[in-house]
Amino acid sequence: MKLEPLKIGDLVAKIPVIQGGMGIGISLHNLAGNVAKEGGIGILSVAQIGYQNKEKFEKSPLRTNLEAIGEQFKKAKAIAKDGIVGFNVMVAQFHYDKYIKKCVEAGADVIISGAGLPVDLPKFVGDSKTKIAPIVSSAKAAKVILRTWAKRYNRTADFVVIEGPKAGGHLGFKKDQIEAAIDKMDEEVTEIIEIVKKYGSDFNVHVPVVFAGGVFTREDIDHYLALGCEGVQMATRFVGTVECDAPDDFKNKYLNAKKEDIQITKSPVGLPGRAIKNSFIERINREDIPIEKCRACLSFKHCDRKTIPYCISEALLHSVEGNAENGLVFAGANAYRVNEITTVKAILEELNQ
Ligand SMILES: Cc1cc2nc3c(=O)[nH]c(=O)nc-3n(C[C@H](O)[C@H](O)[C@H](O)COP(=O)(O)O)c2cc1C
Repeated sequence: MKLEPLKIGDLVAKIPVIQGGMGIGISLHNLAGNVAKEGGIGILSVAQIGYQNKEKFEKSPLRTNLEAIGEQFKKAKAIAKDGIVGFNVMVAQFHYDKYIKKCVEAGADVIISGAGLPVDLPKFVGDSKTKIAPIVSSAKAAKVILRTWAKRYNRTADFVVIEGPKAGGHLGFKKDQIEAAIDKMDEEVTEIIEIVKKYGSDFNVHVPVVFAGGVFTREDIDHYLALGCEGVQMATRFVGTVECDAPDDFKNKYLNAKKEDIQITKSPVGLPGRAIKNSFIERINREDIPIEKCRACLSFKHCDRKTIPYCISEALLHSVEGNAENGLVFAGANAYRVNEITTVKAILEELNQ
């Protein structure tokens, strides 16, 4: 049976699947543009988005990243035609405000923001048409962010992304909470939906909720729709596509991963992350890795240059520059189920039948 479209205000995605932002360099214009073209919502990751312009990037990461936002968005839209394309911006990013403003200026349809609570996101998008969503992992976080937006900005979210403990990349759970959170996530989802409904009704708007983390099949989607969600966000599965912007070296890590290779690991951001075991993970379990060069990717509040176990930008850049064995390969809990490289169209068609 065909899925119901996902409506976010005046935006309508034919297929209620958002492709989750994946940094550094995993979801750029090709993946995001193609997901949007096939009826989903394509999300570009802003994390070091300009890294491909190597010389310029090394000299001036901020300026190069800001320029790349416009360039990548334009290219994604050229592929997507009338499709919906947006950005993922992490709160922990240095110059968060500048990145958000640039995404809005580029014409972003949506901005999804997590890795911290995006308390001032409404201020930076102003009265633009860009739709905004916080990423939350608990009812408590949902309450805090929606209450803050209501009080400070007299508005609510356009949609909300709930990210559960099976997601890839940084997680909104402490390491020792992850197992318990897996068991109790459905309850949490129901509670978050109630909170979102209350704020929606206060502002007389409908606020769809989308679930992310471990969604892989149509059955998974049906499960979250039955709980009251109106869509899902999926990232890991889209790595196994020809359109994904990551190099083959990175995709091969997914293809070769076994269940036990997918591990929870530490990150300078302070949150645990999920990644595929390789020489890099073994090394950081043994020792800290000195920083070669700081590209100021995270705010000082989120990254203490003196005490971090390794540099997150360096680790992620290695993994997209042909050295995935010695870089950080973020992946969701289901990455071991990615066994082939297919197309975005094939995945979305399979999910929508
Ligand atoms: C390789 C990779 C990179 C990611 N990078 C980011 C990121 O830069 N910002 C972010 O908010 N989430 C990031 N995520 C999380 C995804 O956007 C998504 O919410 C999550 O992985 C969904 O779970 P799934 O991968 O099981 O589908 C990343 C996930 C992966 C797998």
